[in-house]
Amino acid sequence: MKMMQKNNTERAKRHLFAAQQTYYEQPLTLVDGNGSRVRDDEGNEYLDAFAGICTNTLGYGDTEVARAVADQASKLMHVSTLYLNEPMLDLAETIARIAPEGMSKSFFSNSGSEANEMATLIARTSKKSVDLLSLDHAYHGRTAYTVALAGQSQWRNFATQMPHVAFVPNPYCYRCPLGMSYPSCEIACAKYAKRVVDSQTDGAPAAMIAETISGVGGIIAPPPEYFKVLKETLAPYGTLLIADEVQAGWGRMGDGWFGIVSSYGVIPDIITSAKGLASGFPIGITITRPELADTFKGPHINTFGGNPLATRAARVTLEVIERRVLIANCKRQGEALIAGLRDLATTYDAIGDVRGKGLMIGVELVHDRKSKTIAPDLATKMLEEMRKRKVLIGKGGRYGNVLRIQPPFILDDADAREFLSAFKESLAALR
Ligand SMILES: Cc1ncc(COP(=O)(O)O)c(C=O)c1O
Repeated sequence: MKMMQKNNTERAKRHLFAAQQTYYEQPLTLVDGNGSRVRDDEGNEYLDAFAGICTNTLGYGDTEVARAVADQASKLMHVSTLYLNEPMLDLAETIARIAPEGMSKSFFSNSGSEANEMATLIARTSKKSVDLLSLDHAYHGRTAYTVALAGQSQWRNFATQMPHVAFVPNPYCYRCPLGMSYPSCEIACAKYAKRVVDSQTDGAPAAMIAETISGVGGIIAPPPEYFKVLKETLAPYGTLLIADEVQAGWGRMGDGWFGIVSSYGVIPDIITSAKGLASGFPIGITITRPELADTFKGPHINTFGGNPLATRAARVTLEVIERRVLIANCKRQGEALIAGLRDLATTYDAIGDVRGKGLMIGVELVHDRKSKTIAPDLATKMLEEMRKRKVLIGKGGRYGNVLRIQPPFILDDADAREFLSAFKESLAALR
């Protein structure tokens, strides 16, 4: 078995692009899974607290999704956007039911990057401006346009950037970009958007795109008033708000289908999502009001957009989330994990900050709590230590020192306890 894994590393080196980097000193080859557990090619079983980058909403091998996909595959696997298909229309109707009032139209694609491409296209077309605002530390995808929206240099690594993107400071309270403290700051970072618009744009930028919680940027969760203040700041310019819920959507934040609405009380103009919507089946979605959706007259094609397999998998996923009350579970398990991690922070100095909401949790590691010296080396070690203890986690942040905990929605009490115990032992092993 060991030979096989070694062989896989060599096969990847020989035949995959070097840019496709994997986690761990010895890459992990995953072969199957069940529930919140996934197995590698050596027979090791892991508790997966990263869910294929925040994507396997229902964990592995969910029978309802698997059955629906198998049934659909035997009937109709693909038609293209040149034809209608029932699963696509069913999903569009379901989304219109759960989306904020008036956001009744969807465009389906295959990824978060594509969803954001469409959102910004709609904004540029309807507002007749090419200027866009994004956040420092943002991540919106890996197409040329979405890379230009990235607010982290390591993700701006395409040689040339599209112009016309200006950046607003991120509400990163642990390392406030304005050197202030919450709440006395009165959300100055959101108000700073005015300065950015006035000095770096055409004066009426088409849209501001923001992740509800910056995921890749290190699970940066804005204070509760943030999006209201941001929206008010942008209102005089007619600038649209695009909420990127590629990671945060479908209940992961624990209090409603879309975190921007349920956690921040703000209805954006456009919502984008992907990842967890179809439990791991590739899908992207751009949701908006008809008057915005229809400003772009096309023609437009997306060969796999609205694919019957993906849209059927998505609809079953949403049904299961609703029936099994999984949004409430995200809240319950998220609170337990955050409380447990904050408790560990009282003993382990490497933990600088624990933040997030629901099952979208970040742990920022530092070498020194007072100076907040970043510790990307400890983050890399933590991934390895957690792997030794059979738990998978992720990593992110502008400086690579934030651990990302974004497990499937089905995580249960025993899983959460197991996670915290492995986390504690891993922290102890760092000393
Ligand atoms: C917030 C956010 N937006 C967009 C994307 C891009 O999604 P995809 O990789 O499906 O293109 C990602 C991917 O991690 C993301 O986290």
